[in-house]
Formats: sequence, structure tokens, C-alpha cells
Amino acid sequence: MPRQMISFVIRFFMIFTVTVYALHGIGRTSAHAFTSSCIQCHAKMTGRLGEPVHKWKTGIHASKGVSCHTCHGGDPNATGTAMSITSGFNGAPFKIFINTFCGRCHERTLQDYLTSAHGRTRDDGGATCVSCHGSHQIDRATMDLINEHTCSQCHPLERVQPFKNQLQITHDRIRDIQDRMTAVKIQGKDTSELVQRLKASKAKSRRLAHMPGSEHLTIYQKEFDRELDEIEKKLNYFEAARQERILKELLN
Ligand code: HEC
Ligand code: HEC
Ligand code: HEC
Ligand code: HEC
Ligand code: HEC
Repeated sequence: MPRQMISFVIRFFMIFTVTVYALHGIGRTSAHAFTSSCIQCHAKMTGRLGEPVHKWKTGIHASKGVSCHTCHGGDPNATGTAMSITSGFNGAPFKIFINTFCGRCHERTLQDYLTSAHGRTRDDGGATCVSCHGSHQIDRATMDLINEHTCSQCHPLERVQPFKNQLQITHDRIRDIQDRMTAVKIQGKDTSELVQRLKASKAKSRRLAHMPGSEHLTIYQKEFDRELDEIEKKLNYFEAARQERILKELLN
């Protein structure tokens, strides 16, 4: 199938061309994101050609100025030649390119994903970015994505429940520390350093979801638990000091 091969190769290189163009365009094109020729023409269409506009419009990418052309390439000012290859149009990615297509802007996530059971089986039935996030209706991600609808396409939810529980324990622990920190802060303690550290930990914890079945996960989780232990130790100290003060006040 030489024609298909050529098409593959062209699309593969287009991804890189488009990246430079795309990263350049984010932010600058926020307003233009909603008025491009891509949107004007596609919004008038129905079915698989029109749906992306309606799904994309309310999602996170639209709100951050990541528009049709930022992902797919092409010329958002042209009409007739908007989708020509010479305008850097990249089309819809083949399944095997989806991860790199998304990963060019979410590089760290891509690296985490590649180490996972899904990354390892990506060409053999493993979940890709769009299996879990969708391609156009993409919102801020939460643990709620781990549900019957998303995961049971490929395996029973019971099978992935232990993984979800593990993540939930970490998320709950962070929330608990956060609540305790707020209480200490109300007592007038300077917790700003701890708040920053916890914030960093919270961001880190969101990476765990991309690592099911990864050896990396165990090492990462250990490092991460150690950091939370340290934060808690300092917090214990603040809390003890607070107890002591309350006791003193009571005795006086
Ligand atoms: C004048 C109308 C028009 C404009 C402007 C237009 N499109 Fe399209 N687009 C179409 C039609 C019709 C199709 C389906 C036929 C085809 O694939 O050529 C299509 C198909 C597509 C596809 C699916 C192609 C595939 O590989 O299956 C994507 C993605 C796409 N357009 C994105 C864009 C982007 C991005 C822009 C702006 C840079 C754009 N379009 C501008 C009419 C338009
Ligand atoms: C965040 C990146 C991203 C943005 C932004 C985006 N798309 Fe897509 N689009 C994709 C991906 C990925 C696919 C392939 C989906 C798949 O195979 O499941 C796709 C597929 C498509 C298709 C083919 C659908 C099909 O079922 O054949 C069309 C048409 C399309 N996009 C048009 C658009 C239009 C129009 C916009 C702007 C409103 C847009 N896209 C914005 C990532 C994006
Ligand atoms: C098996 C399902 C699944 C797959 C596959 C998946 N994700 Fe996620 N993703 C999630 C879940 C669940 C969260 C929410 C994690 C949380 O908030 O704790 C998430 C969070 C995210 C976040 C926000 C968290 C952060 O660290 O910034 C981004 C960005 C993201 N995913 C992009 C991607 C990309 C890009 C791919 C493909 C390389 C991908 N995801 C593949 C389920 C998945
Ligand atoms: C051109 C760059 C670009 C591409 C390509 C791209 N994204 Fe994004 N994505 C962004 C930006 C920018 C944000 C907003 C980041 C922020 O504000 O934290 C974002 C946000 C997200 C979020 C929400 C993160 C969170 O904090 O919860 C998810 C999930 C996500 N993208 C998934 C995807 C998926 C899946 C694809 C492929 C279909 C994709 N992205 C392709 C730039 C991109
Ligand atoms: C498109 C199909 C697909 C989807 C959707 C999918 N997975 Fe998977 N998953 C796989 C494949 C393939 C494997 C590797 C083979 C296996 O272990 O069954 C796997 C393996 C796993 C493993 C096992 C890792 C191990 O070492 O035992 C976990 C955990 C997992 N997935 C979690 C999830 C979660 C959580 C979701 C939903 C957010 C999800 N998967 C959605 C296809 C999918």
C-alpha cells in the first residue's frame, strides 16, 4: 500500500511542523480561536464534520486559545486553501499517532503514559489519550474520569478498582493535610512554605493516573509519600505548639 505509506509519512512530519506553529499561536490567538475560517465552515456542517465545533466550544482547549488549527494545522484565515498541505494542514491523526499528537503539548504526561500498561499496549488495544479524555470535549481532568463509561470499554471496572483506590488514598491524604493546614493557619502560623510544598505535591499526584501498571509508579509513589510524610511532620510540630499554647492558656 505505497499510497497509504506516503500519507503516513507526510502526516508524521506534519505533526512536527504544526507543533512549532501551534505553540507559537497559543495565547496570541485566543479571540481568533472562535472566529477562524475552520470554525465558520465546520459549524455549518452536521455529523462527524460539525460535531467537533460544538464539543470543543465549551472545553478547556477553547478557553485557553487552543483552536482547530492549533491542533490540526492549516490556515485559519483562508477558506479554499485552509486545509491544504502547504498550509501545514495535518488532518485527523491516525490512531497510532494520537498520543504524540496530544503529547507534543503535554510532553511530561506522554512520558508517564509511555511507561504504563496502556502505553506499552498502545498499538495493541491499549487506551490512548482520547480513549479517556475524548478528542474535542476535553475538560479539566479529575478522578471522575475513572468510571464505568470510560474504563469498561476495555476491561471491567472491578479490575481497575484497586488502582483507583490507590489514587484515592493519596488524594484523600492530601485533602486531609490541606484541611489541617488551614486550621493551623487560622491560628496565625506562617504556613506559606508548607502550602507551597503541598501545592507541588498535589500537582505531582495528578501524574499517578497515567501510570497504571508501571514500575515507575511504585518508585514515584514512594518518593511522593516521603514528601507528604515530611510535610506532615512539620505540620505536627505546628499543631503541637498550638496544643501547648491552648494548654497554657487553660492553666493560667
Ligand atoms: C470551506 C469549508 C471548510 C473550511 C474553511 C475548513 N474545512 Fe475542514 N473540512 C471541510 C470538509 C468539507 C471536510 C470533509 C472532506 C475532507 O476531508 O476534505 C473537512 C474535513 C476536516 C477534517 C477531517 C479530515 C480527516 O483527516 O478526516 C479536519 C480535521 C478539518 N477539516 C479541520 C479543519 C481545520 C483545522 C480548518 C481550518 C484551518 C478547516 N478544517 C477549514 C470543510 C472545511
Ligand atoms: C486538542 C486538539 C484538537 C482540537 C483543538 C481540535 N481537534 Fe479535531 N481532532 C482531534 C483528534 C485527536 C482527532 C482524532 C479523533 C479520533 O480519532 O478519535 C480529531 C478529529 C477531527 C475530525 C474527524 C472526525 C471524524 O470522526 O472523522 C474533524 C472533522 C475535526 N477533528 C475537526 C475539528 C474542528 C473543526 C476543530 C475546531 C472546532 C477541532 N477539530 C479541534 C484533536 C483536536
Ligand atoms: C486510562 C485513562 C487515561 C489515559 C489513557 C490518559 N489520561 Fe490523562 N488523565 C486521566 C485521569 C483520570 C486524569 C485525572 C488525574 C487526577 O486529577 O488525579 C488525567 C489527567 C490529565 C491531565 C491533567 C493532569 C496533569 O498532570 O497535568 C492532562 C494534561 C492529561 N491527563 C493529558 C493526557 C494525555 C496527553 C494523554 C495521552 C498521552 C492522556 N492524558 C492519557 C486519565 C487518562
Ligand atoms: C497545541 C497544544 C495542545 C495540544 C496539541 C493538546 N493540548 Fe491539551 N491543553 C493545552 C493547553 C494550553 C491546556 C491548558 C493548560 C492549563 O491551563 O493548565 C490544555 C489542557 C488539557 C487538559 C486539562 C488539564 C487539567 O489540568 O485538567 C487535558 C485533559 C488535555 N489538555 C488533554 C489533551 C488531549 C487528550 C489532547 C489530544 C487530543 C491535547 N490535550 C492536545 C494544549 C494542548
Ligand atoms: C481502549 C481500551 C482501554 C481503555 C478505555 C482502558 N484501558 Fe486499561 N488497559 C487496557 C489494556 C490493553 C491493558 C493491558 C492489558 C491488560 O492488562 O489487560 C490495560 C491495563 C490496565 C491496568 C492494569 C495494569 C496492570 O499491570 O495490571 C489498569 C490498572 C488499567 N488498565 C486501568 C484503566 C483505567 C482506570 C481506565 C479508565 C480510566 C482504563 N484502564 C481504560 C486497555 C484499556
